[in-house]
Amino acid sequence: MAHLRGYNRVIGIVRTTNWTNRKVTTITSTRAGDHVVKTTHYANARPFKEIPGPRPLPVIGTAYEYLPFGPYTFETMYEHAMFDKQKKYGNIWKEPMLGRPAVFVVRPKDIETMFRNDGNMPKRTPLDAITRVRKMAGLSLGLGNMQGKEWRRVRSSVQRYVLRPKEISKFHQDLDVVAEDFIQLMKELLVENGEVPDFQNEVYKWALESVCFIALETRLGSLSPHMDANTRMIIDNTHAFFETMGKLTYSAGLHKIISTPTWRTFVKSHEILYRMIKKPIDAIIHLINEGKIDKGEKKFLVTLLSMEDISYEDVMISAYELITGGIETTTHALIFNLYNLATNPEKQKKLHEELVGDTNQEMRYLKACIKETFRLFPLTLGNTRDTSKDMVLCGYQIPAGTTVITPHVANKLPEYFHSPDEFLPERWLREGGMQRDTMPFTVLPLS
Ligand code: HEM
Repeated sequence: MAHLRGYNRVIGIVRTTNWTNRKVTTITSTRAGDHVVKTTHYANARPFKEIPGPRPLPVIGTAYEYLPFGPYTFETMYEHAMFDKQKKYGNIWKEPMLGRPAVFVVRPKDIETMFRNDGNMPKRTPLDAITRVRKMAGLSLGLGNMQGKEWRRVRSSVQRYVLRPKEISKFHQDLDVVAEDFIQLMKELLVENGEVPDFQNEVYKWALESVCFIALETRLGSLSPHMDANTRMIIDNTHAFFETMGKLTYSAGLHKIISTPTWRTFVKSHEILYRMIKKPIDAIIHLINEGKIDKGEKKFLVTLLSMEDISYEDVMISAYELITGGIETTTHALIFNLYNLATNPEKQKKLHEELVGDTNQEMRYLKACIKETFRLFPLTLGNTRDTSKDMVLCGYQIPAGTTVITPHVANKLPEYFHSPDEFLPERWLREGGMQRDTMPFTVLPLS
């Protein structure tokens, strides 16, 4: 999985509940997107135990399928295993993920049912490695792993400054400066055949610089040809953090019993990143205390630090999660977008015309290109929830507390998208009197 964060993707425990004769709400949607709500007797649905799926072995579950002699690899879990299993078992299957039962659903209308039953405090499946390392260090669990009222409190503080378009537009100028530096660096690094060596690494630095400028209000200098040792350390440790987290998430869990080398690298990278993020935050606190920063400036970090209902630890971990959550995602999203435009020159031309045209326009084609790229190259395996209510998915009883994973599979199936392998941003637009050629809940890159 490219982006293990919003880290909360996998695992939870299915609680055994007495579900006889319960009524649950199922929501079905038509192709036009209007929702018809109907009540289904839970008892009439097929029992949970009848959901098909691969046969789990004791202790390792279905991890054997990803071992060298098995049919899949962890690296191709999304593009190979998920599509293969959908063909084999249909639109719902169950298999343990790391020894815990999980249900995979593919049909958009079941995904809709799951999300619409989510409530205002959705239970995102916590990521064990993060929970462990933070508990060990006595730190806040962070947005991705917090639950319930605690999550709601921190989330509503943070999202005020990072999710609202009006607030985000305040960062526009800062981000523009970083983008200009990036373009300048690309010009310098361009070699004779028109390529930039190790382009992904350069994009990674741009993402790091952009996110840190917002989350830490600090320019790291990673786009300078002479990057300092601290910045190098942030880059190396973010890589190590993600790589080891991926391995731990899909491992058989030996690190829970003994301290494996992967676990030690994970703990070390988490600790180093924490220290490196703490430094600029403490420097800002110092400036606030000295009265040298105007709280009215309303910058992200200063504003969060000034709030009474959010602790220093919460601010620290929120900045940490914005940085670790923002770098890999933004890097891969940009690279896949550039790839699609490079391989579809006529679409690139159309987008270019929009970008150099009237900048007050809504940039509809740009949005369509981004959405189409997310459809073709989703950055995560899928979304996940630990259900808070009993529900019926795909005709089966799903008791409250079940981990439901919605892998990004419908987005590439011909029954939902014509020419599913083609990059066609136009499908997201109502152009020339045509209807949008898409249905809801088929592409949910951000859940
Ligand atoms: C660009 C592509 C991105 C994708 C595809 C993506 C995907 C996701 C997904 C699927 C979730 C889980 C949401 C849920 O379960 O409801 C998530 C959560 C999160 N993401 Fe991203 N993300 C992206 C970019 C970013 C960026 C740029 C940042 C930070 C600057 C970020 C920070 C976070 C945080 C902090 C969470 C946890 C939120 C919470 O649990 O309340 N992500 N992301």
